[in-house]
Amino acid sequence: MSEQTSWIKQTSATHVGHGGQEWWRTSAVYQVYPRSWADSNGDGVGDLPGITAKLPYLRDLGVDALWISPFYTSPMADAGYDVADYRDIDPLFGTLADADKLIARAHELDLRVIVDLVPNHSSDEHEWFKAALAAGPGSPERERYLFRDGKGENGELPPNDWQAIFGGNAWTRVSDADGNPEQWYLHLFDPKQPDFNWNNPEVRDEFVSILTFWLDRGVDGFRVDVAHSLIKADGLPDHAAHAQMAGTGDASHDNGGPMWDQEGVHEIYRAWRELLDSYNPRDADGYDSAADRAMCAEAWVSPPERLARYVRPDEFHQAFNFAFLETPWRAADLHESITSSYRSNDSVGAPTTWVLSNHDVVRHATRLALPVGQPRPNGIRAEDPQPDAALGLRRALAATALELALPGGAYLYQGEELGLPDHTTMPDEARQDPTWERSEHTEAGRDGCRVPMPWVKDAPSFGFGPSEATWLPQPEVYGDLAVDQQDGVAGSTLEFYRRMLRERHARELGSGSLTWVEGAGDDDVVAFVNSRDGHEDLWVVTNFGEPVALPDDTFVVLSSGDADSLTVERDVTVWFTRA
Ligand code: GLC
Ligand code: CA
Repeated sequence: MSEQTSWIKQTSATHVGHGGQEWWRTSAVYQVYPRSWADSNGDGVGDLPGITAKLPYLRDLGVDALWISPFYTSPMADAGYDVADYRDIDPLFGTLADADKLIARAHELDLRVIVDLVPNHSSDEHEWFKAALAAGPGSPERERYLFRDGKGENGELPPNDWQAIFGGNAWTRVSDADGNPEQWYLHLFDPKQPDFNWNNPEVRDEFVSILTFWLDRGVDGFRVDVAHSLIKADGLPDHAAHAQMAGTGDASHDNGGPMWDQEGVHEIYRAWRELLDSYNPRDADGYDSAADRAMCAEAWVSPPERLARYVRPDEFHQAFNFAFLETPWRAADLHESITSSYRSNDSVGAPTTWVLSNHDVVRHATRLALPVGQPRPNGIRAEDPQPDAALGLRRALAATALELALPGGAYLYQGEELGLPDHTTMPDEARQDPTWERSEHTEAGRDGCRVPMPWVKDAPSFGFGPSEATWLPQPEVYGDLAVDQQDGVAGSTLEFYRRMLRERHARELGSGSLTWVEGAGDDDVVAFVNSRDGHEDLWVVTNFGEPVALPDDTFVVLSSGDADSLTVERDVTVWFTRA
């Protein structure tokens, strides 16, 4: 136990609450991955009626909104992130009428609905892409995508050296009606996801119309897929050459690459912001926070100052703080990550949007059990070393308790409230993520975090649907973690999440100011005070080292470890107030 715990609150705050009352500044948003949340008809894939039926669960959990990953018409080459029709629902998920019912029911329950918008690319089965193929080189139809002639004598080489995120070349060559090879098209992801040409005004107009379509149906906002990639550097220069020009010398996934974080993306978002704002007139006393629509950027951009440019007052409302997600489980790193997040977002008046898990990363209950400081793996396979589940869960609860005490917004991923780990022993034959094939089996991909939810232990598919069918296999351990095993059970992960969300709401933690605390043990501790007008200070400590004693005047609000103890053990977060 460390000796000199003095618990001194610093004199000046690192983050001062904005005071803005807009919901998106402080909201806790729950991500529903529709394929895997609830299956109403037993075909093994989750669907919209399934989601609607379970909405009361989200209200009881205490979140403010749900974000639903894509539910649009899609050949499902990338689990729906390959959209063939942006204005309709895939039959696998239901109908537009089902979407209307979902939105209406959510609003009845005081839950906002955020839908996923995928503007970087469509499906190759989108009408526009089919028309582009048919119309041939030089046509206006081709101008909606990024078609180019190949290099080499007969155009047999790709137009540049870009690699696709899922592996392999980022260009695919097409053939004319007689089967003769002709132009190439760009796809930053799968070949079935051709990138749009965002320099074409027709593409811009089309997306304003799509946004309008969903705003008119009553959605409260959009999560915008790969928001940093819509505009590519002029002339589509080779990546290696570009990286050298930028002085990084690194041609890997650096965001200095010619396809990432180009200046031109911002004017697109300014136009969208104007559209969203038009749904919420801000006259002298007409501001209605309840009506406010918001958009959140998925932009893997660093450092935080670059990301902050997406949340300037006339652009996005929020952007996922992936730097936080990727921060090693060490006090100094988290301290620095939190400080720099506030420094950059405060400079533009935007909230920080904390996140630890989503459908693209190994769940934090598994990730945090991996050796600290090692790069995040893209999935874990049965033949890999298996992470210690108990350690992972312990750290995950501590991390979430830290996250939910931080001023700003938060995004939770379905199933984390049950403490679900990744499926780390999934048979390779079951994998569906295109990454597995495209990387030539060097990367497992993201299936492990996308496994259908367990609702009832002693039911087919653990209550995911009425049949045994599940589009990905569920691991055995999901039975004991099912909702019915945790609901109302003191000490369960589910009840802990409900408690955290209730306290966070009642104490208005999202709108607070953050001041670091010194002398709370030693360097292995992250400690701060979250203060709000009209509420008592909330003290928060996460311990990464030897046990630390809390001050004598402590009243424990909640603990990710033993709530009756005045000692904070390693990998535990405690919220407390002081007399
Ligand atoms: C985003 C999505 C991911 C998808 C990719 C391509 O990163 O979150 O799931 O594969 O974009 O749309
Ligand atoms: Ca279904």
